[in-house]
Amino acid sequence: MTYENLIIERDEGVAVVRINRPSALNALNLDTIKELTEVVREMEEDTNLKVVVLTGEGKAFIAGADIKQMAGFTPLEARRFAGMGHHLLDMVEASRMPYIAAVNGFALGGGCEVMMACDIVLASTKAKIGQPEINLGISPGFGGTQRLTRHVGRFKAKELLLTGDSITADEALELGLVNRVVEPDLLMDEAMELARKIASKSAVQTAFIKDLVNRGADIDLSTANALEISYFSSSFSTHDQKEGMRAFMEKRKPEFKDE
Ligand code: CAA
Repeated sequence: MTYENLIIERDEGVAVVRINRPSALNALNLDTIKELTEVVREMEEDTNLKVVVLTGEGKAFIAGADIKQMAGFTPLEARRFAGMGHHLLDMVEASRMPYIAAVNGFALGGGCEVMMACDIVLASTKAKIGQPEINLGISPGFGGTQRLTRHVGRFKAKELLLTGDSITADEALELGLVNRVVEPDLLMDEAMELARKIASKSAVQTAFIKDLVNRGADIDLSTANALEISYFSSSFSTHDQKEGMRAFMEKRKPEFKDE
C-alpha cells in the first residue's frame, strides 16, 4: 500500500516509519491514524521485519491529535476517534516486534501517547513532551491518563495532566519516561544501532520478553510469574535455545533463525 502521510523505509530487519505531515507538526488526523494502523498490520505480517523505529519528519515527533479536525467532532465522532487511537496503540503494544520511538521534537497529547505505547524511547535534546489536552478543554483520548500513570506514577502523571505543561527530554529522563537523551544529529543513528542490535537477537525471545513485560505490568505477580515459567519452558522447544546454548559452549556467536 502507498501512504500519503507516512514514509516507510526498510533496512534489513528494521523498518523506519516516519510520520510525514510536517506542515501540521505531524498531527494525527483520521487519515494518518488509518495509515498507521494499516502499516502496523502490514509490518506484523512481514516476517523479514524484527524491529520498528517510529519517528517524525521535521521539528515534531507528533504534536498531538489534529485539533483542526477534532474541533467539529460530535461526541459520537470523538468516541470513534479515540477508539481508533486506542486500537492503533493496542496493536503497537501487542506487536511481536519491539517499537523504538525516536522522539525528534514535540511529542504532545496523542504524540506522547504514541511514544508511551512504544517499547524503548530515545529523545532528542529538542524533544518537548507532555499532555496539554487540558488547555483545549478536553482530557486525553489515546491512553494518556492510563499509560502516563503506569510509566511515572500517580503524582507526576496528575501534575503533567492537570497543568498541561510540557517537559524537556532531560526532565522526561529523570521521570523514567524516556530511556536516553541524544543529540539531534545522532538520534537516528542511535535508534538504528539499537534497532539492529535487537534485530540480531532471536525474534521468538524479543516477542516473549515484550509480551511478558507488558502483560505482567497489568496483572498480579503470581499470575505474571506463572506466565514467565510457561514462556521459559516453551523456549526450550525452539531452535534458537539450542543454538544459543550450543554457541555459548562452543565459544562462538549464535546464529538465530527466529524459530
Ligand atoms: N493539530 C492540528 N494542527 C496543529 C497541531 C495539532 N495538534 N499542532 C500544530 N499544528 C499546526 C499549527 O496549527 C500550525 O499550522 P498553520 O501553519 O496552518 O497555522 C502548524 O502546525 C505549525 O504549528 P505552530 O505554528 O503552532 O508551531 P509552533 O512552533 O509555534 O508551536 C506547538 C508548536 C507548541 C507544538 C503548538 O503547535 C501547539 O501547541 N500545538 C498543539 C499541541 C496540542 O495541544 N496537542 C494535543 C492535541 S489534543 C490530543 O492529542 C488529544 C488526544 O489525546 C487524542
